[in-house]
Amino acid sequence: MSPLDTVLARLAELEQQGLRRRRRTSDSPCGSQLQVDGTHVRAFCSNDYLGLAADPRIADALKDGTDRYGVGSGASHLISGHYKVHDQLEQRLASFVSEHIPNVAALYFSTGYMANVGAIAALAALDPSVEVFSEALNHASLIDGMRLARVKVKVYGHCDVSELEGLLATSSARVKLVVTDSVFSMDGDLAPLPRILQLCEKYGAWLLVDDAHGFGTLGGQGHGALEHFALRSEHLIYVGTLGKAAGVGGAFVAADSSVIDWLVQRARAYVYSTASPPALAQALLESLDIIEGPDGKSRRARLHHLIDLLNRELRLTHWTKLQSSTAIQPILLGDNEQVVQASRQLHEAGFWVPAIRPPTVPPGTARLRITLSAAHADADVAALADTLNQVESRLYRP
Ligand SMILES: Cc1ncc(COP(=O)(O)O)c(C=O)c1O
Repeated sequence: MSPLDTVLARLAELEQQGLRRRRRTSDSPCGSQLQVDGTHVRAFCSNDYLGLAADPRIADALKDGTDRYGVGSGASHLISGHYKVHDQLEQRLASFVSEHIPNVAALYFSTGYMANVGAIAALAALDPSVEVFSEALNHASLIDGMRLARVKVKVYGHCDVSELEGLLATSSARVKLVVTDSVFSMDGDLAPLPRILQLCEKYGAWLLVDDAHGFGTLGGQGHGALEHFALRSEHLIYVGTLGKAAGVGGAFVAADSSVIDWLVQRARAYVYSTASPPALAQALLESLDIIEGPDGKSRRARLHHLIDLLNRELRLTHWTKLQSSTAIQPILLGDNEQVVQASRQLHEAGFWVPAIRPPTVPPGTARLRITLSAAHADADVAALADTLNQVESRLYRP
C-alpha cells in the first residue's frame, strides 16, 4: 500500500460515514444573499451577525489603511511589525471591557484560534502546577490550546456549575484556570458566567471567557457577555473575536495589564507569527465605532427581532429546535445522513444552512446550524422557516 492509498482509504471511510466535508465557493460579498457555485442562495451560515462584513464604511477605512500603511506588516509584532494603529486598536478594544476588568489592557491577535491557543499556552507556562477546568462543549481552539500546553485538564459537564465547584474545591494547583465559551458555538446557549465567576473568586481561579459569538451582539453597547451579565472582576481574562459580529478578522485578549504583558512575552502564537496587516486595524477601528454607536444598537435590535420571528414561524414536530436567545439557532436531527440530506434539500430550495456533524459536535447530535444576521429581511427568515417545516415533513423517518 502506498502512502497515498492510506489517504484515499481514510477519505473513503469518511465518505461512507457521511462525514466527508466539501467546500462551497462564494463569488459575492458576504451578506444575506450569496452567489455560490454559480447559484443564488439566501445564506444562513455566516457569523456576520450584524451584517458588517461588506459594510462600505469599513471597506473605506480599510482602503484608507492601505493608503497609509500599504498591505503587509512586514514582520512579527516583537520585531518590526507593530504599528501605531495596532496600539490605537488595542486601546480601543480595552475600552470595550474597561468597566468589567480593572486595570485592563488588550492584545490583538491575527485570529481567534491563535488568541485562544496563545493565551492558554502562555498561562499554562506561569507555573508547573497549573490546572485547567474546561467546559465540555468548549470550542476546538480552546481545546487545542490545552493540548499544546500539555497541561493537566479536568472537564466539567455542559453548564454544570456544581461539578465545576467539586473540581475546584479538591484542586491543590497553585494556578487554576477555568475556561469556557460564553455563547456555545454549535448550541447557541449561554454559559452561566455569573455563577462561574463567583466560584473563580471563591477558589482563587482565573476565568478565561471566549466571547467569540457574544462580542458585538450581547450587551446594550455590544460590549459582549461581560456587559450582558454586568460582571466585573480582576479574575477575568476575556477573548473577543473580530471576524464575526465585527465583520473583519482577528481577535483580542483583554485582562489585567500584567497578564497582557506576560502574553507578549510568552504567547508563542503571538510572538512567532507575522503581525496582521495594519490596514485591518484601521478597518476594525471603524467597525468598533459602528458597533458601539446607534447603528450597532439598531442592528442588535433587528437581530433579536429576527430570532423571535424564526422561533414563531418554525413548526417542527420531530426535529428539535435548541433553546437559544442568540444569533445561533440550531436544529437537532441526530443522524449524519439525514442532516446532509436536509441541508441539500434546503440548498435546492435556495437556502444555505450548514450541516454540522461529528467531530464538530458529539456523535448522534448532527444538526442544522442556522445563523441569523441583522442583514436578513423578515421575508428571508419567514421563507426559511416555511421551507424547514416542509423539509422536515418530507424527510422525517421514525
Ligand atoms: C467559540 C469560538 N472561539 C474561537 C473561534 C476562532 O476564531 P477565529 O475564527 O477568529 O479564528 C471560533 C470560530 O471560529 C469560535 O466559534
